[in-house]
Amino acid sequence: MVRQGKATVLVGSQWGDEGKGRITDMLAENADVVARFSGGPNAGHTVIVGDEKYELHLIPSGILHPEKQNIIGNGTVVYPPAIVKELEGLKNRGIQTHNLFLSENAHVIMPYHLQLDRLEEERKGDDSIGTTKKGIGPTYTDKVARRGIRIGDMLDLAFFTEKVDENLAYANAYIQHNFPEEPLLTTNDIVEEYKPLIEVLRPHVADTSLMLDQARKEGKVILFEGAQGTLLDLDHGTYPFVTSSNPTAGAVCTGCGFGPAHIDEVIGIIKAYTTRVGHGPFPTELEDETGEQLRQKGHEFGVTTQRARRCGWFDIPIMKFAIRVNGLTQLALTKLDVLTGFETIKVCTHYEVNGERIEHLPTNGKLLKDAVPVYKDVPGWTEDLTDVRTFDDLPKAARDYVLMLEEIAEIPISIVSVGPKRVQAVLRTP
Ligand code: GDP
Ligand code: IMO
Ligand code: MG
Repeated sequence: MVRQGKATVLVGSQWGDEGKGRITDMLAENADVVARFSGGPNAGHTVIVGDEKYELHLIPSGILHPEKQNIIGNGTVVYPPAIVKELEGLKNRGIQTHNLFLSENAHVIMPYHLQLDRLEEERKGDDSIGTTKKGIGPTYTDKVARRGIRIGDMLDLAFFTEKVDENLAYANAYIQHNFPEEPLLTTNDIVEEYKPLIEVLRPHVADTSLMLDQARKEGKVILFEGAQGTLLDLDHGTYPFVTSSNPTAGAVCTGCGFGPAHIDEVIGIIKAYTTRVGHGPFPTELEDETGEQLRQKGHEFGVTTQRARRCGWFDIPIMKFAIRVNGLTQLALTKLDVLTGFETIKVCTHYEVNGERIEHLPTNGKLLKDAVPVYKDVPGWTEDLTDVRTFDDLPKAARDYVLMLEEIAEIPISIVSVGPKRVQAVLRTP
């Protein structure tokens, strides 16, 4: 069985979309609380339960298990129209939502944040980041500039109106100066749009750090569901082609008000190959027939933006980097089934930059852009893996692939996922 401590963190180890929702859903069976600590509706987490497919953006994947507590922590950014739509979508499908709690200190994505995200991306043209255009960067910018609007601020309408007025004047002055053609929003438009949404959210607003502390003291099992991935981290990722928050494990503490000493396990979710959505360096990217094969077999199209994901081979320096910056104690290797049918599988062992051998992932953007991956060929397999449930039943070449990565990782690969459904996994004893 997977070593699941009282508090377990799940983080993406590549550029997002590693299967965090799917693994969180599986582990949530043995948990009491599932909490999100960073990011916002830029995330798209797919969970398949029976024949039903759910795509979650802001709401933790634990919501699909009745009676679990689901928490959206203070480190997140919340777009009221999106979360209300998500809540209603779940309710319409018979999913309980009274057990969702939203931190009063999470920041609110405002309509002008979406506008700014779009305008800045357009202005950058060929140098754009390729954001999800959900207003993430501008919202975190306002947070850091200490002028942001928090969920708690919305609960008093007069105070909220005052804050919107102040912030909108700031945003509009910037927009008017830089994008004179752009129509401007008014405070009234925004307040009228948000008023009914605030009433839907009000019963869910809570002091979520306090709730997590109570859960911990009662001996409850807590899962922290990461969003995005290590290489999209504002500090550790491929800057500036990153998101505006910290998807790495340390952000659990700041993003939920939960102390580091209480965390028992940190599981890195990692795909058996690599994908990326948006722009920026990607050393093992395959812009050929093989990349297209991975995309089609792995259904690599974004949940949030429907964009085709860039695909490439597994990258060992990235895995080691994720182990280091997150302090990973275990790995969950996902989508191993997608590699079925490749006669030879390539794995990047290190890079060469200007003829020099580089073992560690360079965090300097220019170096990474110039890094040439050096591959090791490993034999593939032809058997379908989707019905395999024990490690010994995997074909030898698939077992060897997992064991090779595990040996290099020096931490156990305790979950091998062989399909998108809850049951499609091989659980190994670390
Ligand atoms: P997340 O953002 O990390 O939660 O991942 P996404 O949901 O954006 O993307 C992962 C995709 O792969 C989803 O469509 C999942 O249903 C699917 N998936 C997850 N694990 C597996 C697996 O082991 N095999 C296959 N074939 N699909 C998987
Ligand atoms: P999940 O949780 C994959 C990427 C965007 C863009 C960059 C910045 O589903 O793994 P942003 O809108 O955050 O300012 O965009 O980050 N990105 C993701 N890529 N999965 C995600 O989330 C992502 N969230 C943001 O494509 O390159
Ligand atoms: Mg996703």
